[in-house]
Amino acid sequence: MQNLKKYINEHKDRFINELIELLKFPSISADSTYKEAVIKTAKAVADRLDEAGCKKVELCKTEGYPIIYAEKIIDPKLPTVLVYGHYDVQPPDPINLWTSPPFEPVIKKTDLHPQGAIFARGACDDKGQMYMHVKALEYMISENELPCNVKFMIEGEEEVGSVNLSKYVKAHQKKLENDVILISDTGMIANDVPSITTGLRGLSYVEVEVTGPNRDLHSGLYGGAVANPINVLTKMIASLHNENNHITIPGFYDHVEELSKGEREQMGKAPFSLNDYKDALAIEAVYGEKGYTTNERNSIRPTLDVNGIWGGYTGEGAKTVIASKAYAKISMRLVPHQNWETITTLFKNHFENIAPKGVTVKVIPHHGGQAYVTPIDSIGYQAASKAYEAAFGKTPIPQRSGGSIPIVALFEDVLKSKTILMGFGLDSDAIHSPNEHFGIWNYLKGIETIPLFYKYFSELSK
Ligand code: BES
Ligand code: MN
Ligand code: MN
Repeated sequence: MQNLKKYINEHKDRFINELIELLKFPSISADSTYKEAVIKTAKAVADRLDEAGCKKVELCKTEGYPIIYAEKIIDPKLPTVLVYGHYDVQPPDPINLWTSPPFEPVIKKTDLHPQGAIFARGACDDKGQMYMHVKALEYMISENELPCNVKFMIEGEEEVGSVNLSKYVKAHQKKLENDVILISDTGMIANDVPSITTGLRGLSYVEVEVTGPNRDLHSGLYGGAVANPINVLTKMIASLHNENNHITIPGFYDHVEELSKGEREQMGKAPFSLNDYKDALAIEAVYGEKGYTTNERNSIRPTLDVNGIWGGYTGEGAKTVIASKAYAKISMRLVPHQNWETITTLFKNHFENIAPKGVTVKVIPHHGGQAYVTPIDSIGYQAASKAYEAAFGKTPIPQRSGGSIPIVALFEDVLKSKTILMGFGLDSDAIHSPNEHFGIWNYLKGIETIPLFYKYFSELSK
């Protein structure tokens, strides 16, 4: 692949402009107002795959947003790589905190991205990272360097739980047969500290509703004499952690994978500065489960967090009122061997149990998924490691991430293959937050590393 760097250098402006065009679509899967834009994005992605040289490009209808399937089969005897990614994005709000509009991409320099970064919703998660694969494929096809068969499967509902993709995968096992699954939808430690994600946390997402009196009440006439749903809800939520920040739901830790001392020591060797971490977030201290380091807390340990809480009067001024209802959305991040459906049931039973008399509690389960860990002795991991070594000049560090891509565990169950998570984003790229961005250097480095993965994967598979 002698031409790889030259090709990227010659075409980089076009690569950047094509991504910018893709980022202009507000493909927000959670908000049905954007339905047309989401569908248009799917069509644009399909067109780009077609232009890159894929042979069979399909926009597959689902009960939700379309899945793009495309392939380039050069020889059935060669190994097949299945690329997964998503073209949907998170809602951009709070919109007033963006320094430029979320769907009008602009390139700005930052401390960590001196060559500039593209600022737009989806720049890193996941349009930018998904599109690196399209451009890597373009290079391999146009320069006659494609050493494997390739299948692409790009969905538009990752940010809302991938429900239709699960059905699609189960229904098309033969079509999706592959030797390895390749995903760029995670991050790495730093541009000069490449790492490969070897684990994802699972997830159980629930909504709770606490109902007190049958109507909103005057907080003077009734205050002190009836259960206030907001007071009760916050008290119930507070009781879900004890003084050591352990989660108090009975049975919650029953199957949690405990890492050996050796494994934890190994993890602790990854470069990490607690001071930089605190500075970047403008916090005086970190916070979390007793007995674990920051990196352990956000990767190998399960969590419970309120993602949203509402009820009562939140408008201008004051209104003296006891609301009839209070609500919260709660996510639990899970680790290997915790079953997300079991955890959801444990939560529901416990939350209903601790409700005091005078209120009723409803627990509404949303979506979830299992955690995932990939071994580092597989051909796929070895190929990825060699690819980073060649592109970055450094051996990448294996590292478990705290985020979730719930479909990955299902891929392993149904398609029986391992997933390699080659992410090129940084934690500071603000995914899901205002001012999301993706470094130009990272984008181009990804396009350079991916073809090398194909090369080493085909060589190691022989
Ligand atoms: N790409 C992220 C997940 C991610 C980011 C994993 C960085 C590791 C490092 C993905 O799009 C995402 O946001 N997943 C959701 C779960 C989903 C069910 C909404 C998450 O982790 O909150
Ligand atoms: Mn993503
Ligand atoms: Mn996301």
